[in-house]
Amino acid sequence: MDKFIITGGNILKGKTEASGAKNASLALMPATLLASGKSLLKNTPKLNDVFTMIKLLKHLGVESNFSGTELELDTKNINEFVAPYEHVKKMRASVYVLGPLLTRFGYAKVSLPGGCAWGPRPINLHLESMKKMGADIELTEGYIVAKAKKLNGAKINFDISSVGATGNVLMAAVLAKGTTIISNAALEPEITNLVEYLVKMGAKIEGKNTSTLIIEGVEQLHSAETETISDRIEAGTILVAAAITKGKVLIEKIEPKLLTALLLKLEDSGCKINIFESAIEVDATDIQIKPTNISTAPFPGFPTDMQAQWTAYMTLAQGVSTVTDAIYLDRFMHVPELVRLGADIIVKENNAVIKGVKELKGAKVMSTDLRASACLVLAGLAAKGKTEVLRVYHLDRGYQRIEEKLMNLGASIERVEGQEY
Ligand code: EPU
Repeated sequence: MDKFIITGGNILKGKTEASGAKNASLALMPATLLASGKSLLKNTPKLNDVFTMIKLLKHLGVESNFSGTELELDTKNINEFVAPYEHVKKMRASVYVLGPLLTRFGYAKVSLPGGCAWGPRPINLHLESMKKMGADIELTEGYIVAKAKKLNGAKINFDISSVGATGNVLMAAVLAKGTTIISNAALEPEITNLVEYLVKMGAKIEGKNTSTLIIEGVEQLHSAETETISDRIEAGTILVAAAITKGKVLIEKIEPKLLTALLLKLEDSGCKINIFESAIEVDATDIQIKPTNISTAPFPGFPTDMQAQWTAYMTLAQGVSTVTDAIYLDRFMHVPELVRLGADIIVKENNAVIKGVKELKGAKVMSTDLRASACLVLAGLAAKGKTEVLRVYHLDRGYQRIEEKLMNLGASIERVEGQEY
């Protein structure tokens, strides 16, 4: 398990660019199961969750060729319909193979994902919707066993906006018989990327970018190529890294409108934001960080995947701020680690009250999940002295060597490889 040794205090300056979006890739890759043949996914990020999905697809019979950022997936020989525990336990997004396998082959057996580091993450909406579409679903020995000769279109109204359930049902509906209407569909840009890809494959979908998706099932889809959108969370993490070190950074290859909620909050906290067509510059030179409250919400609200990084930033604000996570009520595993660095934070239910401190001081801290790791790296960049962030394999799941991007901007980060902690 690798660790980072970060020497804090360097001001980040310069420019970098966003990689492809993890959460878009993790939906686009299983979508290739819906047709037979070679698909090309451009701008795919080289990060561990993508490699885990490649392994899972390989297990199902998909051949891959990953060259630069172009991922080719060949689905002509799918011969297995089980997503085993060993893959799903590593990555919950594995559950995305359920919809495509069930709708195209009439059978899927997918390990139940179980809880995650910060609490339960149910998939009841995925399963209830597939049942509504006529699937016979049993839970047995830790597996979802789903069968359906042919799925039927259905009216699906989600009680909660769910990225995963929208993606899974969408993939199931494109080959179902008749019309499916998804109400309260997730509006996340990664879902729009998926909708556009499915349409390129021959799917009939109306309502792109709205909360009502109308899908007219077709007999067959064909393989296609597409471009993965840029990672708004990676870009957001780097913007907050610039802000917490009081630096000035330009990020290219990112559509500013994907990050509106974060950019407004960065402005409220005292940063100057410059918007370009597909680039964002944050200028936090010499700012006094103003306490700025956030509450997470589905897109276009403030993303839960930026909550931990924002919490790190607010530890150095001049006053008291609050951070509320309305999506994942227990996603505060990073807080005790921030406290080890000198932060003053109290968590009550899904609300963190952060009293800004003058400085953070380097210490050893432990990553517990992807975004918590990112938060600790940001705190380490701003802390006085050395911070050791242990277990950065969590970070490697979702960021493509982010330390290299940060180091090119002036950060001092050493990766110490392969030790046990
Ligand atoms: N929910 C249910 N039942 C369901 C599905 C979801 O109650 O069947 C609830 C969840 O517990 C949560 C809310 O609905 O409270 C939203 O969850 P959602 O289904 O949208 O999350 P997800 O699809 O499992 C994706 C991202 C997450 C991101 C969330 C929220 C992928 C692969 N993962 O997860 O990304 O936090 O949406 O935006 O797209 C990350 O990248 O660090 C990450 C965790």
